[in-house]
Amino acid sequence: MNLLSVDASPRVGRSRSRHVAAHLVDVLAERHGAKVTRRDLAQEPPPHLDAAFLDAYSTAPADRTPQHHAALTYSDMLVDEFLAADTVVVSTPMWNFNVPSTLKSWIDHIVRLGRTVSVTDSGFEGLASGKKMYVVLGSGDYYSHGPLAMYDAVTPSLRAAFSFISLHDLEFLRVEGTNQPQTRDSVVAQAIAEIDRRFR
Ligand SMILES: Cc1cc2nc3c(=O)[nH]c(=O)nc-3n(C[C@H](O)[C@H](O)[C@H](O)COP(=O)(O)O)c2cc1C
Repeated sequence: MNLLSVDASPRVGRSRSRHVAAHLVDVLAERHGAKVTRRDLAQEPPPHLDAAFLDAYSTAPADRTPQHHAALTYSDMLVDEFLAADTVVVSTPMWNFNVPSTLKSWIDHIVRLGRTVSVTDSGFEGLASGKKMYVVLGSGDYYSHGPLAMYDAVTPSLRAAFSFISLHDLEFLRVEGTNQPQTRDSVVAQAIAEIDRRFR
């Protein structure tokens, strides 16, 4: 197994989502003897897509200049890394009901026509099928149930982006209620116990 571990929270030492995801990665790696590649979006934020990138992206591959290729190099590296993985573990906080822009930027780099999705006569065809993705989602409040569930923009947007490239096997592990007095001290231990129960 090739396992890609992608982390978004900038609270490196204190992040609940990172903590739980690190445990999941360790358990999966041990169980499957996986080779683990780490992509830290807080330590090395992917650049937002800029004019040079879009100019290169919208130029047919055969017509691309050396400058175009240079503008796509970073994205190509992220795509190669993503395509090499058969399992991807993403950890992210919920920020303002969505993901941090670093994670959105990573998605913008890897959801790419010609690399992870192709255009056919019958429409778009994703090229990332067969992968499994776990998303460890930390949130201060609760979204799996209750009155705030309708505000969760993370799960539908990640499902849409990844199913577009035919990664349909996407599972969310919630670390929710990290700011709520009744759950903030227990939620990480609960998530870790659940991982041990399911994956060890
Ligand atoms: C900028 C910012 C925005 C946040 N927005 C939300 C939010 O919309 N909903 C929520 O429940 N918690 C929100 N939180 C709380 C975080 O989701 C929560 O602290 C979570 O544990 C962060 O994940 P981490 O511990 O992995 O860093 C926000 C925190 C920050 C710093």
